[in-house]
Order: sequence, then C-alpha cells, then structure tokens
Amino acid sequence: MSKINEIKNTRVLCRVDFNVPIIDGEIIDDNRIKAHIPTITTLLSNNNRVVLLTHLGYPKGKIVENLRLDIIAKRLGELLKLNVRKLNASYGPIVQKELEMADPSDSVILLENVRFNNGEENNDPWLSEEYSKLADVFVLDCFSTLHRKHASVLGIRDYMKTYKGLLVEKEINNLEKIFTHRNSKVLILGGSKVSQKYKTLTELVPYFDYFVIGGVLANTFYKQMGFCIGKSIYCEGISADDIYKTIETIKLSGKQLILPDTVIVKHKNGYSKKSLQNIESNDCIVDVDRYFIERNASILHEADLIVFNGPFGYYEDEFSSRGTKLILEKLKRLKGITIIGGGDTVSLINKSNSDSYSLISTGGGSLLHYLSSQGEGLNYSFQEGNEC
Ligand code: 3PG
Repeated sequence: MSKINEIKNTRVLCRVDFNVPIIDGEIIDDNRIKAHIPTITTLLSNNNRVVLLTHLGYPKGKIVENLRLDIIAKRLGELLKLNVRKLNASYGPIVQKELEMADPSDSVILLENVRFNNGEENNDPWLSEEYSKLADVFVLDCFSTLHRKHASVLGIRDYMKTYKGLLVEKEINNLEKIFTHRNSKVLILGGSKVSQKYKTLTELVPYFDYFVIGGVLANTFYKQMGFCIGKSIYCEGISADDIYKTIETIKLSGKQLILPDTVIVKHKNGYSKKSLQNIESNDCIVDVDRYFIERNASILHEADLIVFNGPFGYYEDEFSSRGTKLILEKLKRLKGITIIGGGDTVSLINKSNSDSYSLISTGGGSLLHYLSSQGEGLNYSFQEGNEC
C-alpha cells in the first residue's frame, strides 16, 4: 500500500504538474490535470486539506497574467466535483493567513504559479522554506517535473517530511519494470525544448541502439551538416562541432542515427514533399515524410523497446501532425515495449487507442532523464516519510 495512505487529518502541500496546453484561454488537453486526481482524492479521503503547487509555462520569476492558474482551478473543480479555491500567490504571510482562515469546506486550494517566484527555478532555499510553512507534510506527485532542481520540487524536501504521490509511484514502478536489459532499443525523439533534448540524446547513447530524430532537433542536425533548411526553426545554441561529435559518438558506439531524408515543407504555394538536398530558402520544414516512416518501420517491428518523445511536425496543425500520427499508428500493438512520453506527443493519441501502447507517461524531459540516470537520479530516488 502506498505510503501516502499514512497521511491523515493534516495539511498537505502537494506539488503537481498542471502545465497543460492553453490556447486562447482554453485548456486543450487536461490529461495532466486528470493524472493527479487519484492522489488528490486519496488525500481527501483521509480527511486532509490539500494545498496544491504547480508551474505553468515559463514566466521567469515575474507575474504573467495569462499564466495565472484560475482556469486550471476551475477545470480541477469540475473534475473533482468540488469547489477549488485559488489564491493569488504561492508563499508568504498573506498566503499563510489565508490558509489558516480558510473555511473547512475549502478542502482543495490551488496556489498561484510557482514560476512567478524569483528563486523557484534556481532552487533558492529561502523560497523552499517559505513553501514549507504552508502545510505539515509534502507530497511530490509531479513526475513530469521531477528532473527539475527547483525550489518546489527539490529544495523543499529539506524542510518537509516528503512522500511520493500515486502518480510518481505509478510512473516509477512502470519504468523500473520495463527498462531492464533488452536487445534492440529505439529512441524516437522530436518536439520542442531542443537544447535539453539534444543534451539528453548525448547522455542516452549508451542505452539505445537506434536514434530516430525529427522535428526541430533534426533541423538542427541538417543545418549544422550544411543542408539548406530555408525558414525552418533550428537551435542556434548547438554548433556544427557538437553535432559532428554526436554523430561520431553514435557511430563509434556501433549505434545508428536515423534522420529523415525526405520531409514535408510549407511554402507560399502550399505544401510539398522534398528531399533534403532540394529544400529552398523560402521553405519551412513542417513534418516528416510518410515514406520515410514506412521505409524504417522494420526497425520498429524488430525492437524490444521503443521510447517516443516529442512530435516530428507542427503537431498543433492537423496537416503537419500526420507524420507523428503515423508513427503512433506504427507503434500500436508491437511485440516490443512501447513507451510514449511528453504532453504534446500524448495529446495526439486517440483516446480509444491508449491501451495499444505499453506505457503512456506524463513525463517528457523527465522520462528521458529517468532513463538516462537509470532511475538513480537524485530527484527520483529518495526515502519517503523521513523527518527533516
Ligand atoms: C513538461 O511540460 O515537460 C513539464 O511540465 C516540465 O516543464 P518544463 O520543461 O517547463 O520544466
């Protein structure tokens, strides 16, 4: 039985990850909110008051109006069928007072975006201590943020008795079970946060056999390998030297780097399929070509383990998400273990197909980080319930 069942009749500060996509003031995928419901309801069923902390986006230590959490509190309330009270700050004497004075019926309280706080992202101990004044015990439920050494994720554990939430427990249990030694392992990597993905790719070279790269990360490879990528986005912080070193390391390790050699580009007359050599200055790469996927499908069929994190195209756009959807289709019901991670990739899975994969993780960067540290990373392994 999970240790959080030991927490009873008290005030619990729970770090969740409600970093959901919001477009024009509307949550377009609430899976990350839903993923925390079991932890919250378990805490409530043991007569606890639950105070929630989360980040949303990158406000960088400043208040950004459209990154306030009111809309999330509303959605959470609908899911819990409870009134979720939202406060306008996440630490300090006023928040402490509001929590003390809160009506007993305010059993779930959502604090404001922690990334409005200077000190959150550099793990300021002062801020961690301030958070710790808001409750008696701390529950860490944000698997998808566990790779961050931030004040509300890491530092806070020095000040509070800490437990794993049910989501963290579930994700780690699943990953432990499947990331054992297997023969042929494939990592399919695309999506945003390219400099982080690139770093993780280099760290994961020992653990995978095939690296299939798409999206902006692939554009960065093309650019630094000397191809014209037109108006396509790439990561300027990654140099040609870096790229050639990575290509060399993968080769010397006997592993294989697979980059799409035909892509879909957008230009003023619409869309075209083009080989890399033919991209022109006004073209923008928006997706992978489906024949590239078909040609490489045998690698997927023969693999023992496949991890897919990050869409290959402009996933928000129906037309440019076709490549990623085709990859997801190919990954359905394979003989090997299939792990799909990251909010953007997961949002493209048709709900009726969710049981066609071995594991759908709420983590993107965190999942990769877990894999590269083999679960031994500081943030993933800790003793629960220790006194501070
Ligand atoms: C995510 O979206 O992967 C998590 O919420 C972590 O977000 P971050 O990359 O902004 O830290």
